[in-house]
Amino acid sequence: MALTGKRILLIISGGIAAYKSLDLIRRLRERGASVRPIMTRAAQEFVTPLAVGALSASHVYVDLFSREDEQDVGHIRLARENDLVIVAPASADLMAKMAHGLADDLASAVLLATDRPVLIAPAMNPKMWAAAATRRNAETLKADGIHFIGPMAGEMAESNEAGIGRMAEPLEIVAAVERLLDGTARPLAGKTAIVTSGPTHEPIDPVRYIANRSSGRQGHAIAAALARLGADVTLVSGPVTVPDPAGVKTVHVERAEEMLDAVLSRLPVDIAVMVAAVADWRVASSADQKIKKRPGEAPPPLQLAENPDILKTVGHHDKRPKLVIGFAAETQDIEKNGRAKLERKGADMIVANDVSPETGIMGGSRNRVKIISAQGIDEWPDLGKDEVAERLAQLIAERLAGA
Ligand code: C5P
Repeated sequence: MALTGKRILLIISGGIAAYKSLDLIRRLRERGASVRPIMTRAAQEFVTPLAVGALSASHVYVDLFSREDEQDVGHIRLARENDLVIVAPASADLMAKMAHGLADDLASAVLLATDRPVLIAPAMNPKMWAAAATRRNAETLKADGIHFIGPMAGEMAESNEAGIGRMAEPLEIVAAVERLLDGTARPLAGKTAIVTSGPTHEPIDPVRYIANRSSGRQGHAIAAALARLGADVTLVSGPVTVPDPAGVKTVHVERAEEMLDAVLSRLPVDIAVMVAAVADWRVASSADQKIKKRPGEAPPPLQLAENPDILKTVGHHDKRPKLVIGFAAETQDIEKNGRAKLERKGADMIVANDVSPETGIMGGSRNRVKIISAQGIDEWPDLGKDEVAERLAQLIAERLAGA
């Protein structure tokens, strides 16, 4: 496991994003790290020490002046007996204290006393992040050698506001931790990858189009996961509402033919993961002007033409990537169809999933997949799409290393 034996001191400060720190603790421990938590007084207004203690399987340190805690390890040992200090969420207030060397509670005293690397994941209202004082503090902290992950752009949990201020997701924080602690946790460094994602829109006329229910969530998550492992990733995305992932070059296209051009123009690459739900057909000759509805006239017939198969083209290309991975969205005979697709498309691996409406997978946030390859079939449990992405990126790294 990537973080086996690593000792992490996690400081949780006050903010609604503290709920994500519970998941962060899980993710760190899953990877073999031990987590010792400190909570500020404000943090305890958002999540309880009981929950933090249960998830970390550790005593939760909250008080600088607790005789019991000081006898147990003491704030100087707390500050030193670890490989890394994470502050997540890092509130504007705690950042200000850090920047000025204040030490009036356990969290700030430990941060002042530590000689270990410190990674902070700021989370705050976009206006607070943009405020001149916070800008100055962030610059000071960066100059002091404090590592930052985020904040990210997006909607705030507590209001309808959007902007920069959202805490990085737990998996993004974990990836930053791995980068800081272990250079080998980037097994795809130096590799190039192309990922397609989302639906395509096939125009009928300038205002109407044929599309499907793909959200782009799975493909975007895979692009981000490959980038976290160090790959240089280009994401070719159809029209989606999910944001461009961090650390990835995103190319936006509409039609299947544009998607094919964008993919082919970027070959050769080491890895191709074709996740897009490309429309099988386009309208043979889309109208240049909006088709008018005229009283009494029959609806216009839609003549369809077959779209290029991007996966198949890449799978049989003379610049074929070392690893070609396709998806198979099926509603029946998943394994049989998956195997046939492996063959037909010239892919090394097919990620097959059941997109029957009752599964809620298409457009949803979870996925249940089977990995079909020459090595056999591996069935993964029900997972979040980001977890599927994370596992797939790891599997890709292993296959490439073995190849
Ligand atoms: O043939 P089918 O659409 O079921 O195959 C799905 C896989 O093929 C997915 O990986 C999808 O991205 C890819 N595909 C493609 N171009 C198409 C159709 C599918 O790249 N025109």
